[in-house]
Amino acid sequence: MNKITFFIVGLALITVSACTDNDFDNNGVEIPNFNFSKTIVFEDSLSTYNIFTGKMSELNPSEGFEELALSSVLFTDFAEKQRLVKIPPGKKMIKSPDGSIQFPDGTVLTKTFFYADDERDPSLGRRIIETRLLIKESSTWNVATYVWNQEQTAATLELNGITTQVSWINEAGANKTISYKVPTENQCMTCHQSNGTMSHLGPTLTNLNREVEKDSQQVNQISHLQRIGFMEDFDLAEVPSMVNYKDGQASLSDRGRAYLAMNCAHCHNPKAWDTPAGKDLDFRYNTAFGQTGISDAKDRIIRNVMDGDMPFIGTTVMDHTGVALIVEYIESL
Ligand code: HEC
Ligand code: HEC
Repeated sequence: MNKITFFIVGLALITVSACTDNDFDNNGVEIPNFNFSKTIVFEDSLSTYNIFTGKMSELNPSEGFEELALSSVLFTDFAEKQRLVKIPPGKKMIKSPDGSIQFPDGTVLTKTFFYADDERDPSLGRRIIETRLLIKESSTWNVATYVWNQEQTAATLELNGITTQVSWINEAGANKTISYKVPTENQCMTCHQSNGTMSHLGPTLTNLNREVEKDSQQVNQISHLQRIGFMEDFDLAEVPSMVNYKDGQASLSDRGRAYLAMNCAHCHNPKAWDTPAGKDLDFRYNTAFGQTGISDAKDRIIRNVMDGDMPFIGTTVMDHTGVALIVEYIESL
């Protein structure tokens, strides 16, 4: 009896320590505790930030927030996303000499994750899961996420990660269910860092340089941001652009590189944290092929994505279409 009690208490302890572990299910990969210092204190309620106007669940951006469209995106368990940016009045995004964007203090970047109840008919409703924020103050990016309630009327700060069941019908009419994982703060930092400080990831000039529809007109997104005063003026001819990896018309090599850039490069680049940076892979889109390390790592890349070992956080199910693209691309080299 005593032995059994001891055994049960032992098991309970193991379970508890696994749950309170900051690493919250990282597929067995050890992640350090990054603990980057923050320059703001996040509010408890998302509504404090006035990101949305009117009925919150309609996700209509408030004045001063502008929607951003990326050419290629990160895959996260089929979630759909809305991306917004707010630049404080009188300030602008600046193009640095190395081609990266410098955001002013006071910038807010948001990403809201949701699932249509039935992807074949968006008018049937959707479930919004979380809104993630990046806020820049004192030259430092701060990260936090807000989880929406069941009624879709409010969202509250969540730094420790939660799991929630999500069900929907996909484009092919199939019923899908996943255990959606809201990342922990430390997991946010795992991907959103560069040279030991927090970093934005999606809005690069290369990824923003695309056509978008504004006021029923097709315009270049960077020209639009310049016209509304969000970005300083410069000659667009100097700016490279990324393909959409889902665009079958684009070249296989550009699509393969765009997929690796958006799904892997935040860890696999020389400025990432030690473990992945030490693997000598640089998947950033603008890195010359000869410097990426891809040709020496073909087998390892294919094995890791086919086994579902990579990427090891941010998804709980395999992106089969994405894996097929990587395999096709690597095998073509
Ligand atoms: C698996 C890596 C990964 C994790 C974990 C992750 N992000 Fe991101 N995040 C990305 C990538 C890549 C992008 C840009 C691509 C996109 O939006 O599709 C991005 C975009 C964003 C954006 C839009 C602005 C930008 O930098 O592009 C915000 C805001 C954001 N993330 C916040 C968070 C927060 C808060 C967390 C933790 C709760 C988090 N992220 C966890 C990889 C990650
Ligand atoms: C959140 C960070 C992160 C993301 C995103 C990520 N990786 Fe990794 N990758 C790692 C870490 C950490 C290791 C080392 C794992 C270990 O040692 O067990 C690794 C190891 C690898 C290796 C093995 C390298 C070697 O020399 O053994 C390959 C190949 C790889 N990753 C490819 C990818 C690909 C392709 C993607 C995108 C589909 C990806 N990774 C996304 C962090 C990441």
